[in-house]
Amino acid sequence: MEGSKISREKKKPKEIMDLPGVGPSIAKKLSEAGYKSIAAIAVATPSELAAAADIGQTTAQKIIEAARQALEFGFETADKIYERRQRVGKITTCSKNLDRLLGGGIETQAITEVFGAYRTGKTQLAHQLAVNVQLPPEKGGLEGRAIYIDTEGTFRPERIYQMAQAVGLDPKQALKNIIYARAYNSDHQMLLAQQAQEIISEQSVKLLIIDSIMSHFRAEYPGREMLAERQQKLNKHLHTLQRLADIENIAVFVTNQVMARPDVFFGDPTEPVGGHVLAHVPQTRLYLRRSKDNRRICRLVDSPYLPEGEVVFIISEEGIRDP
Ligand SMILES: Nc1ncnc2c1ncn2[C@@H]1O[C@H](COP(=O)(O)OP(=O)(O)OP(=O)(O)O)[C@@H](O)[C@H]1O
Ligand SMILES: [Mg+2]
Repeated sequence: MEGSKISREKKKPKEIMDLPGVGPSIAKKLSEAGYKSIAAIAVATPSELAAAADIGQTTAQKIIEAARQALEFGFETADKIYERRQRVGKITTCSKNLDRLLGGGIETQAITEVFGAYRTGKTQLAHQLAVNVQLPPEKGGLEGRAIYIDTEGTFRPERIYQMAQAVGLDPKQALKNIIYARAYNSDHQMLLAQQAQEIISEQSVKLLIIDSIMSHFRAEYPGREMLAERQQKLNKHLHTLQRLADIENIAVFVTNQVMARPDVFFGDPTEPVGGHVLAHVPQTRLYLRRSKDNRRICRLVDSPYLPEGEVVFIISEEGIRDP
């Protein structure tokens, strides 16, 4: 897929090198750490930037302020936000029911989280979206590529092949348009997300998937004593993802497990893993439950502007579909 097909929305008023306090060696370090644009620097925190470029926090603060000024960050009038929202793209799920629930599909400039018990279809949905993002806009795609960060080793190229064929894409090309990485631990996962920025702007990526977001964090930080540390790291990770969604105008799709809540006696005794940090970052949260046979129930739990609701979809040989 040619990069020229997908319009670039980034404006670069100046190079990183033009920022006061940034010489060639700092610019190089920043760039190597993934801070390749003024926009990326503008939304960094001083401590992140200081660590990345081996500089003091005060210097980092000054560089960030200069970047923000260059981009006129800070307050802006609502028409600008409206304009940015007009560029929000949507990716179809291949289920009309689900698309309707989502107001058209999975959105760019946002993080969507899908959580549910095992075999509810989280990974299947992730596969379907990695295919569908490649479709032309008239078919519900964004004519872009996908990055797939796999933490559980459940990515199946054969399944992509099947799903691509079913929506009329060349399956071999569809596989080429998915940029895959296996994350081996939470630090690796965080690093991959940071490195993704470079790939995204160079390779017309429109969707970033993490399946699943919490599994490493959960395994590596068991128990109450480690909770604070875990949440701090997780918060940083989500911040990276949110930044990618906003700056690059891509959709971020993460899956999550549920855990049993022994304190709930009525209703559904499960809740997504991740605690309050994860609960407040994703803009849209979907909860999947199993129904009869290949039927699945999807509940929209959280959305900034859509009503809550439930729909049914199925997982078939072709992929996600309506019953
Ligand atoms: N080729 C296929 N045709 C039909 N159904 C399939 C196919 N491949 C997988 N499925 C169905 O998808 C379901 C598995 O869903 P998925 O792997 O997405 O679950 P999950 O929510 O990611 O679970 P986990 O929490 O274990 O990762 C199974 O019920 C399986 O029957
Ligand atoms: Mg899975």
